[in-house]
Amino acid sequence: MPEKLNWKKWKIDPHLMNRIQWDENEFNSVKEVFMSDWFGEGESNKLFEKKIIEFTGVKYATLTNSGSSAVLVALKTMIHEGRLKPGDLVIHPISTFATSVSSSIDLGLVPVFIETKQNTYAADPEQVEKAIQKYPEIKGMVLPHILGNIADIERIVKALNGRVLIEDSCDSLGGYFNGKHTGSMADIAVFSFYGSHHISAGGGGGAVITNNSQYADTARSIIFWGRDFSKGNAFLNRYKYKTLGTNSQMPAIQAAFGLAQMDRLPGYLKARELQFREMDILFKNYDYFKLPVTHEKSQPSWFGYPLIVKQSSPFNRDQFVEYLVENGVEIRPIMCGNILVQPPFKNSRHITLQDSYPIADEIERAGMFIPCWGMPEDQKRYYYKIIRDFLDKHKR
Ligand SMILES: Cc1ncc(COP(=O)(O)O)c(C=O)c1O
Repeated sequence: MPEKLNWKKWKIDPHLMNRIQWDENEFNSVKEVFMSDWFGEGESNKLFEKKIIEFTGVKYATLTNSGSSAVLVALKTMIHEGRLKPGDLVIHPISTFATSVSSSIDLGLVPVFIETKQNTYAADPEQVEKAIQKYPEIKGMVLPHILGNIADIERIVKALNGRVLIEDSCDSLGGYFNGKHTGSMADIAVFSFYGSHHISAGGGGGAVITNNSQYADTARSIIFWGRDFSKGNAFLNRYKYKTLGTNSQMPAIQAAFGLAQMDRLPGYLKARELQFREMDILFKNYDYFKLPVTHEKSQPSWFGYPLIVKQSSPFNRDQFVEYLVENGVEIRPIMCGNILVQPPFKNSRHITLQDSYPIADEIERAGMFIPCWGMPEDQKRYYYKIIRDFLDKHKR
């Protein structure tokens, strides 16, 4: 086995957004698929799906090749089921991830953009209520839990009053609201297993989950070329179709990797939570940032540590970013703080609920997120020192 397999030896590497940790367990799981000589959907997919079901408490899960395809499949499922149709209005937070919205646009749906709740990066339920009051014809919502913080989904479900809810839980595996796992309170929901996410399916992947057996069958058909999986003549059924499908399947090798990662998930979540609390304490010592806030009923599953550099701070975001990058810290903007500054979205058909979105604009202008993946202790010490050195230098 090559040296590199021991991830703990990587601790002197740069401070990346995430470190996919793997060892003999992932290696042997993938090896089993190699030895089976069939790399398409197989036993590892079924076992990974079973673990997702057990972990989240939802009834059905089907793996996909990415979180982005999972969002598209979820929306196509709602269209196939007659719950949505092209031209329908669908609520999207303006602070979001690109494919969470482009999937709706691709399918002819019209986004109604709502403002984000201050310091949460999550959807604001008051805005959902306002949107529905103004446009009662709205047919649904795509709700991303950006960076793993969980919106007040109970109030959002109430406001939607039976309209479609798709939870984009790509960032929030392991996150709960009032004791319920994200994704379990919607009509249909999705996860991502891209490399920077909580667990990875060999670099990428996703899943569609639901509690509704009919939606689960439709989603599965869409993921598998549109195939009709109902019983009948096996020969003829091979090319018999139920839906207008895609091929969004996860290959078995990736599923085998993801399956082994599920055993690490509880440990990962604890380590992330601990590091998040430590970083909260660190940043509270300085009055330079707006720090993340959570709802009292939510148990977030942080993807990274989000910060907004205050205007009163002695440095601006770009100066802090430059320093961190020079010191080997991977940092990112908060995805799309305001997705409407991006030409493909600005130029697509959409509705704005208000003339301006000051919270989203601030996230766009002064927001950033930094690694918080539950690093080993000695790496954390060094990482925190890098941060403190800069902040102490600016103490007035
Ligand atoms: C909120 C959200 N939705 C969707 C996606 C897309 O997932 P993927 O990268 O697996 O396509 C991401 C990606 O990170 C995301 O953060």
